[in-house]
Amino acid sequence: MLSQGFEKKLTDRAAFFEDVLAKFLPKEEGYAKVVLEAMNYSLLAGGKRIRPVMMLESFRLFAGQDADTQLLWPFMCAMEMIHTYSLVHDDLPAMDNDEYRRGRKTTHAVYGAGMATLAGDGLLNLAYETAVKGAVTGKELSPYDGDTTNRYLAALEVLTTKAGVYGMVGGQCADICAENSAEPDDDKAKDVLHYIDENKTGALIESSLMVGAILGGASASQVKQIEKIGSNVGIAFQIQDDILDIEGTAEELGKPIGSDIKNGKSTYVSLYGMDSAKAKVKELSDEAIAILEGFGYRDTFLQELFEYLIYRKK
Ligand code: IPE
Ligand code: IPE
Ligand code: MG
Ligand code: MG
Ligand code: MG
Repeated sequence: MLSQGFEKKLTDRAAFFEDVLAKFLPKEEGYAKVVLEAMNYSLLAGGKRIRPVMMLESFRLFAGQDADTQLLWPFMCAMEMIHTYSLVHDDLPAMDNDEYRRGRKTTHAVYGAGMATLAGDGLLNLAYETAVKGAVTGKELSPYDGDTTNRYLAALEVLTTKAGVYGMVGGQCADICAENSAEPDDDKAKDVLHYIDENKTGALIESSLMVGAILGGASASQVKQIEKIGSNVGIAFQIQDDILDIEGTAEELGKPIGSDIKNGKSTYVSLYGMDSAKAKVKELSDEAIAILEGFGYRDTFLQELFEYLIYRKK
């Protein structure tokens, strides 16, 4: 059961992130002004901001609820920049060819496909510039259980790897390759679908939680458990996205419905049916919550967030 006021807590955290993001936005000036505008257009279009919020809460889990979060800010912004770039490219005519995102015209619909491609490239690179600068200028980290690895480097490794071909990009590749190919009862297609969901969406959610945990002082074995939590929550998040692509409304989602059928996508709903999809979202999320409870923290915001996401409508 969600506690009273949960949604307000979520909105407050997203608003806090928006304030942080404002400090890291690029200035729209010079001969590259138009691409900078396109980058800010997509970054500022809103969105639920759940990845930076997850990072923040995972950090607090290990660093303490009252810990100073400032060292995490560049990483939170980097994560949202990577996620936003993935959406800008995902919507391109050569990919899902969608016209609306976050309640507005997509970046390519406003700036053209060339500029949207560059805006995505610019956002991905700016994410790394932001995180690396954050690591270089970041404060000394709180002590943890004796592992001497440089935790900023460990966080950067996760951030970069999970976004790339061994993460989100790999998942997007398999997503395109599976278009118009998968049939229900095809075991290979089910295997591929698992890879797609774990990577195109799971990877960035894993990364968000893991970076927060690493910088917050989690031990290596705790980070492994956090990765598993992220994987479950990420796959559940994508299955719910596929459900909403059929049962949601464009008004609430801020993006078109029917995109998956239009593109012949292989989704959990297309391979297993709607009822199984809903049951799977719940099962994966419950398992993630159980692992989180195993850490011994009681009534955490993250636990409620995972519950909330099971029934999200946007
Ligand atoms: C959409 O992500 C793309 C998926 C990975 C399913 P979100 O649903 O988090 O999109 P925003 O950030 O709120 O717009
Ligand atoms: C996208 O999956 C995952 C990304 C890496 C962007 P979808 O293509 O289903 O996401 P939406 O529905 O367009 O947001
Ligand atoms: Mg897509
Ligand atoms: Mg899409
Ligand atoms: Mg979708």
